Amino acid sequence: MSTLPLTPDELLTTTRSVRKRLDLSRSVPIGLVRECVEIALQAPSGSNRQGWHWVVVTDPDLRAAVGDVYRRAVEGYQAGSGFAGRLFQDDPGRADVQQRVGDSVAYLGEHMGEAPVLVIPCLTSPNLSAGNQAGLWGSLLPAAWSYMLAARARGLGTAWTTLHLAYEAEVAELLGIPSDVHQGALIPTAYYTGETFRPAPRQPLDQVWHHDGW
Ligand SMILES: Cc1cc2nc3c(=O)[nH]c(=O)nc-3n(C[C@H](O)[C@H](O)[C@H](O)COP(=O)(O)O)c2cc1C
Repeated sequence: MSTLPLTPDELLTTTRSVRKRLDLSRSVPIGLVRECVEIALQAPSGSNRQGWHWVVVTDPDLRAAVGDVYRRAVEGYQAGSGFAGRLFQDDPGRADVQQRVGDSVAYLGEHMGEAPVLVIPCLTSPNLSAGNQAGLWGSLLPAAWSYMLAARARGLGTAWTTLHLAYEAEVAELLGIPSDVHQGALIPTAYYTGETFRPAPRQPLDQVWHHDGW
């Protein structure tokens, strides 16, 4: 499969969370998803363990069932103080964007189960020790992001989501994921509508840049 003519910087700055623009009516060849996961397997992992597993869901009934769990999780999130649509509302520079993110999150809450492909990157690990969470999740999440970049390069939209993890055990039960396997994200994957994506507004670099000390 050929890829879009994007420079590395374009790929890195235009891989957006795609929610309202997921094309829910168009199926995605499973071979294309496999290609993206194959690329994701090139990501780093601690001690080169490669303890990741990729649960790819295309069955309509299973997607609908996972979507129901996700909808419930989004409803809980919307009711809480951390809801994206309520954050930074007294900051005129951020309020509009946050409200758009909130709307978009709510939309995906209603439609997750209709995305043609749901990808759940998982991690096998004997325990989730509090001591080195970065070492643990750092062995899965770069690969998940690689998956999303590879998808974007092939004209597919994705969104990083984690809200279903409030009900992780329910999704594990639905999909037969063993109880010692930890889910890292739930990534809807679909072709997108519209033309392309732009870099997003972000807080200025100098707010977060610390040279030679904090
Ligand atoms: C750890 C993490 C968890 C996230 N969880 C969700 C989620 O559950 N649902 C959702 O719609 N978006 C989720 N997002 C996407 C963020 O809302 C999004 O990255 C942010 O608004 C910036 O937008 P952009 O990705 O388009 O640049 C998550 C992102 C990260 C990194």
